[in-house]
Amino acid sequence: MTMKKIGVVGAGMMGAEIALCFARAGMDVILADIKQEFADGGKQKQAAILDKQIAKGRTTEEVKAATLSRVTPTVDLTLMADCDLVVEAVLEKLEIKAGTFEKLDKICKPETILASNTSSISITKLASSVSKERAANFVGTHFNSPASVMKLVEVIPGLLTSQETADTVTQVLLDIEKEPVRVKDVTGFALNRLFHVFYGEAMRLIEEGVATPEDIDKICLYGLGHPVGICKLLDQTGHDLNVSVDQILFDAYGERFRPSPVLQRFVDSGRLGRKSGEGFYSYEKK
Ligand SMILES: NC(=O)c1ccc[n+]([C@@H]2O[C@H](COP(=O)([O-])OP(=O)(O)OC[C@H]3O[C@@H](n4cnc5c(N)ncnc54)[C@H](O)[C@@H]3O)[C@@H](O)[C@H]2O)c1
Repeated sequence: MTMKKIGVVGAGMMGAEIALCFARAGMDVILADIKQEFADGGKQKQAAILDKQIAKGRTTEEVKAATLSRVTPTVDLTLMADCDLVVEAVLEKLEIKAGTFEKLDKICKPETILASNTSSISITKLASSVSKERAANFVGTHFNSPASVMKLVEVIPGLLTSQETADTVTQVLLDIEKEPVRVKDVTGFALNRLFHVFYGEAMRLIEEGVATPEDIDKICLYGLGHPVGICKLLDQTGHDLNVSVDQILFDAYGERFRPSPVLQRFVDSGRLGRKSGEGFYSYEKK
């Protein structure tokens, strides 16, 4: 099946970039949010990303214009009726995601595949918000952030997802030059389990006074070959999100994911990382 038209619901940090990945590959994209200004903001963010790529000589004004011409920002989910695939990237709240899928199930043609970009909610549970017939066409697609740059996408079949749906989604991800990896529908999937266990040890090193955050980041860069240090990365994802996902993993798996007191203190003091202007590092407040 060749996919021509994609829907993305939620034009925030993830949705805008996910939509850009499909538009860049030549597909028409409907990008929806609850307010027109939010949907337009997603498209503006895409333009800013493409401008940076032009400045680095990685793309051209022509490609930017063609890519953006394929993106329709809207508040009207009915424009997604004939989409081949709709990726949901709204807030990480079960009731908001479930309500979105209930609407999409009624609006979209029977063949439309519905996918969720959830980081922590069970795909099988989310699939229960759509009809039995649609559940076979429901799957998790966990894009890594920043989605316009990072190649990894975890493909997560739920209990009722058909093999055909998992295969079709894997193929379209390959078509947009991603590296899909199929993982089971368990809490945290695979990426977040690895990520949180790794940074949990980094936080223990800081807590014990073994190394400073700056030196931990140097270890990541020059010893492990990471493109960005772990403390800087945690500042980017935001400490409120880091701690809330730690808590979900702790509830599911116990001690090895106990939320770090270092990060909890940051959250308690409103030091949330880049978005608040202060985390392990200082940033100019936006
Ligand atoms: N931020 C990350 O690093 C990351 C990584 C992987 C997955 N995720 C997941 O992606 C999803 C989105 O995260 P984000 O960081 O982009 O959040 P965000 O807050 O930046 O964006 C969410 C967007 O959804 C919109 N929205 C809320 N309710 C809506 C509705 N009913 N209909 C349409 N739009 C609605 C909001 O207005 C907002 O623009 C979450 O499930 C999150 O767990 C996030």
